[in-house]
Amino acid sequence: MKTKRLRRCQLSVPGSSEKMLAKAATMEVDYIFLDLEDAVAPNRKAEARRNVVEAVRSTRFRAPTIAVRINDLSSPWAYDDLTALVEGCGEKLDVIVLPKAMGPHDIVFLDRLLAMLEARHAVGRRIGVEVLIEEIEALNSVEAIAAASPRLEGLIFGMGDYAASQGMRVSGVGETDDYPGDLFHYHRNRVAIAARAGGLDAVDGPYADFRNPDKYREEARRAAILGFAGKWAIHPSQIELAEAVFSPDPATVTKARAMAEAYAAARERGEGAINFEGTMIDIASVRGVDEIVALADLIGEKRGR
Ligand code: COA
Ligand code: MG
Repeated sequence: MKTKRLRRCQLSVPGSSEKMLAKAATMEVDYIFLDLEDAVAPNRKAEARRNVVEAVRSTRFRAPTIAVRINDLSSPWAYDDLTALVEGCGEKLDVIVLPKAMGPHDIVFLDRLLAMLEARHAVGRRIGVEVLIEEIEALNSVEAIAAASPRLEGLIFGMGDYAASQGMRVSGVGETDDYPGDLFHYHRNRVAIAARAGGLDAVDGPYADFRNPDKYREEARRAAILGFAGKWAIHPSQIELAEAVFSPDPATVTKARAMAEAYAAARERGEGAINFEGTMIDIASVRGVDEIVALADLIGEKRGR
């Protein structure tokens, strides 16, 4: 059975910054991923890898989930990333985040390699995997990617690399500029559909302009409406914004419960569609209720590893 994790906010922490790694340990956030990829300069990859293995092995993080983003599978670093992580901190590592996947073959390969490494180092758990959908090839095969391994827990739409991969003319990571409508609607929607069909969480990627909370909130809201579970944060100030958008507010939870009760009573009376506070509700209206209540319960559970 897969572990159900909160992913309202996934905070990215550069693996080469011992200062930020230490600071991240104290942060109250659903999910932290320590980055070995783009936040780390090529000449500091080995140092960052050592820092990250040590941090995962021996730091007590307040966040309930700790992940590491490795370098992509065509890089000269991915092999060492994987072997060092599974050997050095496999027992403590919840999830590996794979960037720049090109298709389901990458996921199958990673799954098999992880299985070998876990067996080799007698790791007593199955490490989860999340995949960045940030290449045009990945979006083209996103349904197959979502079904490629039982380790998969989530798909992340990485709009920074994706925009470059498609040749989009945007001014920064996560920016949508003056495109009429929502530039990323199609991409997010495909990722959300594929993720949910595969029983995975969809997560929205970064927004780089961390001094612009309104735009961040708006981007998070767009993702939430489409069914995403959360959004990345690259700066601590974005954590609160994401958690607010992706948490059901108490009024929504109360209404969801009342709706489910009213519908159950109607069914007893032999009615399929009823008037609930002035709108029609039927079985479709209460389909999402369990999910809202389960999320609220998960948020209410005590955090901490
Ligand atoms: N994780 C942990 N701590 C962080 C952090 C992060 N992602 N981003 C900032 N901080 C810390 C800073 O070290 C600083 O700590 P201090 O008050 O003890 O000095 C504090 O939060 C405030 O940061 P601020 O001064 O506003 O920003 P900065 O100039 O230090 O850093 C960035 C700005 C963008 C360089 C930094 O936020 C960062 O590196 N983010 C992550 C980038 C990343 O992971 N990219 C890859 C994924 S897209
Ligand atoms: Mg990227």
